[in-house]
Amino acid sequence: MDYDEIMERRKRCMDDELHPIPDEALQKVKAEFYKTRAKSLAIFEEAQGFIPGGVEHNLATSHPFPLAMDRAKGYKMWDVDGNEYTDFLMCGAPIILGHHYDPLDDEIIKIIKEKGPSTGLTSEYELLAAKKIIEHMPSVDVVRFLQSGTEADMAALRIARAVTGRQKVIKMEGSYHGWYDQYVFSLHVPGTAGLNSPGIPPQTFDNLLEVKPNDFDALEKLFEDNKGEVACLVLEPVGGESGVHPVHPDWNKRCAELCKANGALLIFDEVVTGFRLDMGGAQKYMGIEPDITVLGKIVAHGYPSAGAVAGRKEIMDIVGAGMGQRPYLGGTLAGNPISCGACYHAIRLMEENDAVAKSTAIADKITSEVNALFATRPDLPFFLYNFGPIIQYVTTGFFWVDITGEKAFEVITRRKTAEDYQMVAALNGVNSLAGTRMYTCMQHDQAALDKVLKVWELILSMIPK
Ligand SMILES: Cc1ncc(COP(=O)(O)O)c(C=O)c1O
Repeated sequence: MDYDEIMERRKRCMDDELHPIPDEALQKVKAEFYKTRAKSLAIFEEAQGFIPGGVEHNLATSHPFPLAMDRAKGYKMWDVDGNEYTDFLMCGAPIILGHHYDPLDDEIIKIIKEKGPSTGLTSEYELLAAKKIIEHMPSVDVVRFLQSGTEADMAALRIARAVTGRQKVIKMEGSYHGWYDQYVFSLHVPGTAGLNSPGIPPQTFDNLLEVKPNDFDALEKLFEDNKGEVACLVLEPVGGESGVHPVHPDWNKRCAELCKANGALLIFDEVVTGFRLDMGGAQKYMGIEPDITVLGKIVAHGYPSAGAVAGRKEIMDIVGAGMGQRPYLGGTLAGNPISCGACYHAIRLMEENDAVAKSTAIADKITSEVNALFATRPDLPFFLYNFGPIIQYVTTGFFWVDITGEKAFEVITRRKTAEDYQMVAALNGVNSLAGTRMYTCMQHDQAALDKVLKVWELILSMIPK
């Protein structure tokens, strides 16, 4: 679906009223959910006493309570109560070969058994992994391994500031770059500004400049008003929240031009798009070369401790592991043999299996067939669009609520209705991200698609005409 159609449908969705599942039906679903997921509930209830909020990350939250998973294989997962799920969360994007993929696991087990997990010194896997990333990503000559996407995004800012000697940073409203102080501003929903998290000193944002995605004039003005002061512009290339806030086809190009004209560095956050949208990331897919690339969980395919900041040699060479006049960054476990072995072998296996093409083909099919199903209910504004193996599905559009306008409160009701649909989907064995997103892997097939269709047929049947 092209940008104009997405925006037209988005408008219709936001003008439309909500289509909730009637309460009686919803209560039945909820009762069944509690009955069939008793062990998950017990784990969550006990965990709340030992782990703040009972889970570690918003990805793990779900309505009416988080599900505790027992195991995963291919595109399926099973919770501790034995319920099976066709999974489209894919660990929040990094799984492309499929969960618990034997040829990858075998290599990692071999590393653990034969070599041990970590020495604090370097190993050949660091080099092998770096070379694999460099081979695929057009703008990358050198790679610094870190341990999470958040860390890599933090490092990118420090490098950009050190290289340019400037302080100001431009970020897109609604985009996500992890939980670092300076990025936690207008997360998810544009316009939420500093409301996203207490505990951040307000002056942290003194050097943060924000722009609404697709506001070309505002972006130009921002550069004009801060001439000679902007160190970098950071963006998610398919738009904030992996494309929840889609960008105009010329947006990234214009960002690159303005950065160049103003001596600022362009940072692509490819934590989701790298090795998913394309083996060469969004930069290859779109033909735009950023100055700095941020990679995260995707570089270890779900194995722990994954993140990297990468780019052209003349920029990245400013980073040193030791002391001196260099931006200080690095970690004891960064670049450990397990994470780097996972990176090297995952990329190798993705090449051998043509994993991105397969994941994209099934995502295209899911998008088209579910859209055809939604078309049977013209009274509903539901639709899907995808950027390769990243599918966005829109039901209530809660991320799009104008938080500064009269209907700001709708973010709560719209979110709740989307969560209710999600609860029906989970009860019937389909897991996705936040009721808005589905990631595919190379193993998703017609049976997975049929499952999605069946679940949405059911949800549609529960929504009155
Ligand atoms: C685009 C983007 N950047 C950064 C991050 C943060 O990565 P991590 O959770 O590994 O810190 C995420 C996480 O989902 C992301 O989607």
